Amino acid sequence: MIVVKGLHSYFKTEDGLVKAVDDITFELRPNEVLALVGESGCGKSVTALTVMGLLNRKKTVLKGEILFREKRLLELSPEAYRQIRGDKIGMIFQEPMSAFDPLYTIGYQMQEVLKAHTNLSVEDQKQRAVHWLKNIGIPEAEKRFGQYPHEMSGGMLQRVMIAMALMLQPEVLIADEPTTALDVTIQAQVLGLIRNLQKNEGTSVLFITHDLGVVAEIADRVHVMYAGKIVEKGTVTRLFHRPLHPYTIGLLTSRVVKGKKGKELPFIPGYVPRAFELPEGCRFHPRCAQKLPRCERESPPEFLIDHENRVACWLFERGESA
Ligand SMILES: Nc1ncnc2c1ncn2[C@@H]1O[C@H](COP(=O)(O)OP(=O)(O)O)[C@@H](O)[C@H]1O
Ligand SMILES: [Mg+2]
Repeated sequence: MIVVKGLHSYFKTEDGLVKAVDDITFELRPNEVLALVGESGCGKSVTALTVMGLLNRKKTVLKGEILFREKRLLELSPEAYRQIRGDKIGMIFQEPMSAFDPLYTIGYQMQEVLKAHTNLSVEDQKQRAVHWLKNIGIPEAEKRFGQYPHEMSGGMLQRVMIAMALMLQPEVLIADEPTTALDVTIQAQVLGLIRNLQKNEGTSVLFITHDLGVVAEIADRVHVMYAGKIVEKGTVTRLFHRPLHPYTIGLLTSRVVKGKKGKELPFIPGYVPRAFELPEGCRFHPRCAQKLPRCERESPPEFLIDHENRVACWLFERGESA
């Protein structure tokens, strides 16, 4: 569905170039849930924003390729990108407030989206919107339809935003920590809903999270990110039973990766390096208990374990380099 090749997303800042995403390659396949996991600050959101075409082009340096159905997204005009966004590729993110205009009811805003992307009559727009509000587990959906964003709790707005993305039935859904702000019951509901969408509609989902528990619940495959790079790729089953990269092992040992920046993980000493002071060689080496001398100098390529599983770590050099 989406192929990302050699993608670099750098920010131009007063402190220099921030290499938020630094040469990543992956594909999102039809009808799968692919999870992107890693600690806060490792480049997950920037990856999502780049794919969605939402980064300010003047303030970023983008290199590489993003293909969606053979279209090169990075070469699209802002107008063409806008059409694909929402229509073909939907996105939900952690912060729901910014998704809504405080001056209009959520029903009005949902209808505006449907007006822009479908040919439904006004009556059918309302029906579709209310249907999806119900679908996402919002009680009294008709009443909610007529309310303003400030009349709703954060968790409720989060669900409305999810309904808004899902009601267009996009081919691809990019979900950036969509359940992090929700309580556990609602989180389970939302995960179930996304899972069903993928099963019933064949939607491909790129699911971004720092929570490995969520990965286990929802994903088919998982990519682990660290400091702007993907360090391990694999099926969920393999990754949980036999993690390879020392960083992945650390994540699994500490189990739930805390999202707070600068917080130390119990089993991985040290912090994610800031994106403009990245270490030479493997970016994880200062925190790695198994580092080799070359890890301080040379960035490891991706080594192929088998066709589904890859790891960027010199400990696996015997594997064939991909
Ligand atoms: N607009 C921006 N300008 C400068 N640096 C940024 C910007 N957005 C993100 N970054 C930096 O890029 C890195 C990756 O951020 P992000 O993708 O948000 O991490 P994650 O989503 O994995 O927590 C961080 O070091 C962050 O500070
Ligand atoms: Mg993020």
